Amino acid sequence: MNLDQDTQRSEPFIGMHKTELDTPALLIDLDKFEANIQTMAAYFSTVNAMLRPHMKTHKTPIIAHKQIASGAIGVTCAKLGEAEAAIHAGIRDVLIANQIVGKQKIARLINLARHSEIMVAVDSAQNVQAISEAASAKGAHVRMLVEVNIGMDRCGVEPGKPALELANVIHQSANVSFEGLMGYEGHTVSRPDRVERNAAARAAMQLLLDTKDHLEKHDVAVPIMSGGGTGTFNITGSIPEMTEVQAGSYVFMDSTYRNVEGVGEHFNCSLSVLATVVSCPSPDRIIVDTGLKVLAKEFGIPQPVGVTGVEMTGLSEEHGKMQVSDENVSFNPGDKLEILPSHCCTTVNLHDRYYGIRNGIVESVWEIAARGKAQ
Ligand SMILES: Cc1ncc(COP(=O)(O)O)c(C=O)c1O
Repeated sequence: MNLDQDTQRSEPFIGMHKTELDTPALLIDLDKFEANIQTMAAYFSTVNAMLRPHMKTHKTPIIAHKQIASGAIGVTCAKLGEAEAAIHAGIRDVLIANQIVGKQKIARLINLARHSEIMVAVDSAQNVQAISEAASAKGAHVRMLVEVNIGMDRCGVEPGKPALELANVIHQSANVSFEGLMGYEGHTVSRPDRVERNAAARAAMQLLLDTKDHLEKHDVAVPIMSGGGTGTFNITGSIPEMTEVQAGSYVFMDSTYRNVEGVGEHFNCSLSVLATVVSCPSPDRIIVDTGLKVLAKEFGIPQPVGVTGVEMTGLSEEHGKMQVSDENVSFNPGDKLEILPSHCCTTVNLHDRYYGIRNGIVESVWEIAARGKAQ
């Protein structure tokens, strides 16, 4: 999208009160969102690790630029489509923290490598070889992190010797370079109890630290150590050997992370979905226009904010069903409510744009450039 189209799309909304917006609409409370960026930046100014925020949360270059302007070293992406959005918007230091597999995707990766310092996670010699051959054919260079399975049992080679072997394969392959290790302790990040989360995350990260030691004992330098998420920003972030942390959700937070002790109290819930009451079939039941197509519910049913006596009890494709438990609370069709997502990342992916709100007024409209870019 060019700038003119962008301006044309935003202009009618700027200056409106948020309650005048048509719904469903995805809102950012700009004061809270900016405070989240500053809080995280302030933390990372006190430790050795740097912040490499995960773009899978917001999928939007202007937000990535704000994070970088506050000290982040670049971005983490989950998908090539996110990396393309970031690099086309002028961001050079991009990590794709997933395996890029298959001819078409590797071709896109190589194209991006010509215009950026892209890094990619790898966990097989076959994948390293395929990327190396494609990069050599195009005279490009791709940087690599060996992903280590540190207990999440998702991707990654096992700690220790397998990681060393893969690092050596990279060293022996043309047009690719071994930059370091990545380990994501995703099985620990949302444990609400602080002590339990701290112990689990440190145990996981120890596997990555031991792997680093193992490589160094075999004369393989490990300049980059990447991992961490919002739930472990100040656990993994405080480990001196870690060079970067991939936290994403902290910009928006959600009702799940809000309940994570030691995290929820540092950041504000800045994202909400504006809903309209479309039907009031009985005094104790109202229906809103925010269903599954605009609100994710895999982490629980999202709930309204700023009102009491009303609870969302179910979502179908286009409808949210709410139970009104306080007889002093009543609604009429056309009333507006804000819903707090229970999972910000998957909710954002359901929307085309954000409406940035300050003091109740629409200040900015940002297209979600990588929304739906699952490839
Ligand atoms: C590889 C990786 N790094 C970091 C994160 C952290 O994200 P968040 O801060 O949103 O928990 C995730 C979350 O899915 C991830 O998959």
